[in-house]
Amino acid sequence: MSDGGISPGDRLARAHSFGEAAADYQRYRPDYPIEAVTYLVAGTPAGGRVLDLGAGTGKLTDRLVALGFEVVAVDPSAQMLAELSRRRPDVDCRVGTGESLPLPDSCVDGVVCGQAWHWMDAGAVGRELARVMRPNGSLGLAWNTDHTDTGWLARIEAIRNVPRGAELNRGPDRTPVSPGQGWSPFTRHDVDWTRTMTKEDFLALWRTHSQWLTATEEQRIRWMSGWRDVLATDPQVATLDTVSIPMTTECWVTRPGG
Ligand SMILES: C[S@@+](CC[C@H](N)C(=O)[O-])C[C@H]1O[C@@H](n2cnc3c(N)ncnc32)[C@H](O)[C@@H]1O
Repeated sequence: MSDGGISPGDRLARAHSFGEAAADYQRYRPDYPIEAVTYLVAGTPAGGRVLDLGAGTGKLTDRLVALGFEVVAVDPSAQMLAELSRRRPDVDCRVGTGESLPLPDSCVDGVVCGQAWHWMDAGAVGRELARVMRPNGSLGLAWNTDHTDTGWLARIEAIRNVPRGAELNRGPDRTPVSPGQGWSPFTRHDVDWTRTMTKEDFLALWRTHSQWLTATEEQRIRWMSGWRDVLATDPQVATLDTVSIPMTTECWVTRPGG
């Protein structure tokens, strides 16, 4: 597994860092386009029960509920799930990990996992999913990725200059690490979209990332002043009130029995 250049201890700390920023996470992190979620659950029977794995504050759960599915949300962070429950008291939320699911055998028709697969041990999770999934289910993974390779966004990214979470648990071609033997090759569908936000919200978004949450105060001050400088001086954005971020929601689907 690619470790993105971070130690196992740092990786675990980052995987478990999100809870302290749960309310900000829900407010500033991007939602998922409905087209993307529709692809993730294309093989799941209408109205079926879907596991939102690493559900966090429930950004995928929201979409699943809107599509008419019953959701069980699992996440190791009680704080993230509390944020989900506050908004959606009817959703079944359980504290637990993908590697040791707090669920009985054969209880879900499908599984989705948004922005969280890279924090898990794919093989251990694959065995658990095979246990909890009813026949003909599918596993859909999603990542919201922002395109930061050119212009002012490249300058923002260069200031951070540390490995990103989403590069963990992916092969050199960026295909997610498979849940293991007995799962089909991944199929992929990308949804391109644009996110527009105020500059202050853009900065607040960075404060929900695991790198920020586990950084030293000194690092945070350095990053924040560098980012503020780019927003205030870069000719592409200096005179604008809002910034637009080109996004792609990458969707990957695999099925047991492949
Ligand atoms: C970046 S957040 C994504 C939350 C949500 N799925 C979303 O798309 O907004 C990553 C989530 O993975 C959870 N997580 C970390 N390690 C996990 C594990 N081993 N099993 C399940 N979830 C895990 C974290 O607690 C966190 O809520």
